[in-house]
Amino acid sequence: LTTQLHAAPSAALSTDRLLARKAAAMPRGASQVVPVFAARALGSELWDTDDRRYIDFAAGIAVCNTGHLHPHVNAAVRQQLERFSHSCIMVTPYESAVTLAERLNAAVPGPSPKKTMFFTTGAEAVENAVKIARAHTGRPGVIAFTGAYHGRTLLTMGLNGKVAPYGTKFGPFPASIHRAAFPCAYHGVSVEAAIASLEMVFKADLMPADCAAIIVEPVQGEGGFYPAPAGFLERLRAICDAHGIMLILDEVQTGFARTGRMFASEYADVEADIVTLAKGMAGGFPLSAITGRAGIMDAADPGGLGGTYAGSPIGCAAALAVLDVIAREDLCARALHIGMRFRAALDALKAEFPQHIADVRAERGAMVALELVESGRPDCPAPDLARRVLVECHRAGLIVLSCGLYGNVVRFLPALTIPDELLGEGLAIFAQAFRKAVG
Ligand SMILES: Cc1ncc(COP(=O)(O)O)c(C=O)c1O
Repeated sequence: LTTQLHAAPSAALSTDRLLARKAAAMPRGASQVVPVFAARALGSELWDTDDRRYIDFAAGIAVCNTGHLHPHVNAAVRQQLERFSHSCIMVTPYESAVTLAERLNAAVPGPSPKKTMFFTTGAEAVENAVKIARAHTGRPGVIAFTGAYHGRTLLTMGLNGKVAPYGTKFGPFPASIHRAAFPCAYHGVSVEAAIASLEMVFKADLMPADCAAIIVEPVQGEGGFYPAPAGFLERLRAICDAHGIMLILDEVQTGFARTGRMFASEYADVEADIVTLAKGMAGGFPLSAITGRAGIMDAADPGGLGGTYAGSPIGCAAALAVLDVIAREDLCARALHIGMRFRAALDALKAEFPQHIADVRAERGAMVALELVESGRPDCPAPDLARRVLVECHRAGLIVLSCGLYGNVVRFLPALTIPDELLGEGLAIFAQAFRKAVG
């Protein structure tokens, strides 16, 4: 496997030719952030098909938390490949899935006994969390938040609190989904105001007795990297308890040491009813899960949960190895260290460009963001500058992403295994690229 991935790129696979072939062969809805094609990757570096090197500050959108091709993950996958690649968890399951469920049941926060079911993507995990909440409560309603992102399936598009591009042209979405304001001091929404908007949903749109679940990200990802403010998740927990509503915490992007804790909800004092997991769980292999309180997780009847590739044995082998690596290499501590390095570098850049950088968010480990504005005004987002920054970074050999309701947030999600030298090199490239983009 490794040998093949590291073979020299073929001359026929130049970037320009591939871009043309992709445009002809794949729909334009499948966009790409960086206009190059990956040929190989290792750790926190990636090479394109023209053999240009990139430092990877995206990790495949928070997936390769253990870096590309971590040797322990590779070895586990290779071992599994020698035994079998697929038997289907719904036909003949395997011990690795049971072991992984046991380990996730122990790792997900909260004292209640837990059960775990596996799927393939984050969106599928969210869909199944909602299915179980409905089965357990016998109620239809779901409440999600402004700025939320939960996936690209029909149900999850309905849950998203950001329309373009995810929902554009694809409606109508499933019924009984309602939206409350996510608290964000930066945009002038206090915890009190957010709770008041939730109470208004209960008055104007949905009786609490008809509400199956409230779903929330402990740190909004796609929406702009806004952590849930202190006390907010606890307030949601209390409201859910008062009305028999399931609290679903979507940890698809925040999980697996990304934020400096195994799960971002550990920054609060809450136990979710169901937690959704994916991305960083399996080091690059498609695997997702929901872990929830045992009594709730048993609400679906036999056969009600599944999927042909749900809990692939390759994914389970990778995930068990990822859990080992997180513990052995203390990746929670590494995430905090990485966050501090970003904080220092980005605060310096903010001091240099106070008119353009309104906020540096680096309080959740290696989930870091810069909010870009015009004229130093938080109410004047600067998506064009964010686009130019990304272009300059990509030209200079650094992979970074944007996010945010207004597309004006640059986000950083490096592998938690990134060596200090590469981190420093990447931060220096970023500062130079930023200066160039400002012009
Ligand atoms: C919080 C959150 N939930 C769900 C998803 C959807 O995951 P997937 O793209 O694997 O379907 C994402 C993906 O970015 C996410 O960040």
